[in-house]
Amino acid sequence: MDKIVVKGGGALSGQIPIAGAKNACLTLMPATLLSDEPLTLTNAPRLSDIRTMTTLLQSLGAEVTALNGGRVLALSSHGLNNHTADYDIVRKMRASILVLGPMLARDGRAIVSLPGGCAIGARPVDLHLKALEAMGADLDLRDGYVHATAKGGLKGAVVDFPVVSVGATENALMAATLARGTTVLKNAAREPEIVDLAQCLRRMGAQIEGEGTSTITIQGVDRLNGATHPVVTDRIELGTYMLAPAIAGGEVELLGGRMELVAAFAEKLDAAGVSVEQTAAGLKVTRKNGRVSAVDVRTAPFPGFPTDLQAQMMALLCTATGVSVLEETIFENRFMHAPELMRMGAKIDVHGGTATVTGVERLKGAPVMATDLRASVSLILAGLAAEGETVVNRVYHLDRGYERVEEKLGNVGAKIERVREHD
Ligand code: UD1
Repeated sequence: MDKIVVKGGGALSGQIPIAGAKNACLTLMPATLLSDEPLTLTNAPRLSDIRTMTTLLQSLGAEVTALNGGRVLALSSHGLNNHTADYDIVRKMRASILVLGPMLARDGRAIVSLPGGCAIGARPVDLHLKALEAMGADLDLRDGYVHATAKGGLKGAVVDFPVVSVGATENALMAATLARGTTVLKNAAREPEIVDLAQCLRRMGAQIEGEGTSTITIQGVDRLNGATHPVVTDRIELGTYMLAPAIAGGEVELLGGRMELVAAFAEKLDAAGVSVEQTAAGLKVTRKNGRVSAVDVRTAPFPGFPTDLQAQMMALLCTATGVSVLEETIFENRFMHAPELMRMGAKIDVHGGTATVTGVERLKGAPVMATDLRASVSLILAGLAAEGETVVNRVYHLDRGYERVEEKLGNVGAKIERVREHD
């Protein structure tokens, strides 16, 4: 398994291009299941999670062709001939559950393996299922699979989510586009990825209002057509690379970055003493001298501070002056990076969903282990400013969500390399 080796020290300078959003692309791809006609996605990221979704869609009989080195995905569900999403693919990636709503909406049937647990907590899919049931789906859970049918098609319904869920909102939104009548999604997620999905569905002929607010109204239509849609910028990749100059010092421009995608996060960087400025090409992040100041962070659904940037923010706060309190409200068990950062000399106390970080002057390089996608990149960021060498093991998590991280950071002056190992 590959390793990433980072040598700390040295300010960064230059530009990093930000890719299309993994999480947006993972919901836009299954949208192809709603129509017979081709869907083309541009600005797609080149990641192993995207290849997993490709494999899943192909296993259903859809065509997925990567063009332009993977930047463009040409999808067609014209030849859909299988309605079962197999455990062997679904277990690799939770987002596989997003094929359920569209397949059910178009053909009135779908069998999808339950994704099971995951390294960052229990993560059930009950909200996805309840929303589809409200729209008239009959669900039967057996042998680890959801067997879903909707004889005569789905019907519009009012769905009031008890908890804000990105995935459940996406599944319900896609399903509602072909349901008979009006669907109202209340307490819906407001993430930019939801807005992007709604825009794509509208291009396909769907009638949707209110995306980006907590109430989305969908008027069902008989059929959807083909479309071409550019994937929105990845705000998590953007935030991650904004932290690189914040941690290592220097000035880096993140190409394609937009403030409204990361406003709550940029506010915290500003409070810590890091400047973030919108430029014509993106966002420019500068940290000139001295250590950053401690800040408190509480994760929340968008527009709050994203849970997917919590681990990376912790890496920054490890060397702040003072004590920072990080509260994780979205996922239980999402501090697995803390013990690894402590191996690098960080002072962190974790109690339930709260981590208290007492800043130290400098971290020290060490061999560390990545336990999930965001945790692994937080260790790389920490390594940028640590004394000596940090070796991040088990980086396959990283490749699920970050394109060529060593190249992007290397291009702005980081001393970083990938060591390929065959096992
Ligand atoms: C998506 C993102 C993930 C991000 C998360 C929160 C994708 C592919 N992944 O995950 O990177 O960290 O949003 O911003 O887009 N919940 C339930 N029942 C459900 C569904 C969710 O209880 O049926 C709970 C979860 O356990 C969690 C909370 O709701 O505590 C939010 O999860 P959700 O927004 O659904 O996350 P995902 O869509 O899985």
